[in-house]
Amino acid sequence: MTAAPSAATPALLAARFITLEGGEGAGKTTLSKRLAEALAASGLPVLRTREPGGAPGAEALRNLMLHGHVAWDPVAEAMLMFAARREHVAKTIRPALEAGIWVICDRFADSTLAYQCYGHGLDAAVWRKLADVALEGFAPDVTLVLDLPPEAGMARALTRGLPDRFERLGKAFHARVHAAFREIAAAEPKRCALLDAAQGADQVFAAASATLRERLGAPL
Ligand code: TYD
Repeated sequence: MTAAPSAATPALLAARFITLEGGEGAGKTTLSKRLAEALAASGLPVLRTREPGGAPGAEALRNLMLHGHVAWDPVAEAMLMFAARREHVAKTIRPALEAGIWVICDRFADSTLAYQCYGHGLDAAVWRKLADVALEGFAPDVTLVLDLPPEAGMARALTRGLPDRFERLGKAFHARVHAAFREIAAAEPKRCALLDAAQGADQVFAAASATLRERLGAPL
């Protein structure tokens, strides 16, 4: 989904890589759409993408991981997440940024730390090693962390007909993932902004826009 730049494209504004993170039902998709529309309306070319996936090989791995029937070994699962991520960066994200296209990505490496490590108990040292190999220091310019207690996320997911993941993984798992995203945001305040996702979509969008304006000079 790429929007062409208009005549009003702000000059010399380097394309930026923005990631959205948070638990289930936190509103990442809604926010991603609204931010992409707003950036495009201000004349910037924008690509919306999401993980796992976002490139042909990465989409194939997504199917294996999310819709396959293998109970993955935790390290193998994290390796697959990072394999998909490397494809995504190499084939989609970097080429877009180099072409001057802003990239908004729903989930990135923080999700592997939150879900595989905090959620499923994988050693964070494994995450660090895989991230070093797969990303070689490549990182988002800004990460918007949508902070929503798991009970509220579950209620929202239920209205969208997605209760299975909640039931399968359980309340304690989602509580660990929620705590993980808060810790990640606190540990890297320059990259991450923690946004209160319990507010309405308009308020979350306003807070996200203000963050991108202040940190990246985005014309929002
Ligand atoms: P998706 O249907 O895209 O859900 P959401 O809208 O919540 O992002 O499924 C992504 C699922 O994969 C979600 O449950 C989180 C999980 N996931 C991981 O466990 N590790 C990861 O590194 C990523 C990117 C996602």
